[in-house]
Amino acid sequence: MVYDSGYRQLFRLLGYPGCEKEAEEVVSILASENERAMQLLDVSCGPGVVTKSIISSKMFAKVYALDFYESMCERAKETFERECTGNNNSYEVVRGDVSDLPFANETFEKVSSTAGMHCWPNPVKGMKEIKRVLKPSARSDEDDWGVLFSTVVLPRKGNETRETYKWETNKPFLDREAVLDIVRESGFDEYEVVREDKAYILVKARYF
Ligand SMILES: C[S@@+](CC[C@H](N)C(=O)[O-])C[C@H]1O[C@@H](n2cnc3c(N)ncnc32)[C@H](O)[C@@H]1O
Repeated sequence: MVYDSGYRQLFRLLGYPGCEKEAEEVVSILASENERAMQLLDVSCGPGVVTKSIISSKMFAKVYALDFYESMCERAKETFERECTGNNNSYEVVRGDVSDLPFANETFEKVSSTAGMHCWPNPVKGMKEIKRVLKPSARSDEDDWGVLFSTVVLPRKGNETRETYKWETNKPFLDREAVLDIVRESGFDEYEVVREDKAYILVKARYF
């Protein structure tokens, strides 16, 4: 519990809105009142501090929570068993690598990921995998976004430029363009920055 609140306090200082609000945003952008039969994959769920509120919203037919580390999956299971106790809470915790997701093509209607991408070994490979397991959006529905993710960018670039900055796993990205390059390179047709604050960036994306 100390660890859960510890890293999340740091995220608050970096401009993140906080677990509850981040879950609310996932629900408001990805869920649809008319289509509760949708399945959501939450990539890099960590100890489940955001995912638990997505599950408790009951706005998705089933939430799959995935993380690379067995220890995180165990923490997420404990969180959900403790806090997602109401009726009709449907979830599954899956250990897996975003670079090689253990799901068939076009399994999910929606995919979310909070504060995950900067921790991935290869963000383009990760986003391509997310696109592979995601169903295409309906062109006719302007509110039908397939993916919503947040990650960390440098709050102040200082003297860093595209030429000098070398991104590595677990480092903030240089800026919003560096994040959007990843989305473009992964083959998504449309994307939009939903919110930015200091080191926080929230992006929605879709393909047809
Ligand atoms: C900063 S935590 C975010 C946790 C949670 N989503 C949140 O918002 O608090 C980043 C997570 O990414 C996970 N991660 C790192 N590499 C990964 C990979 N290759 N595939 C999936 N998840 C990975 C880590 O285990 C960690 O739980």
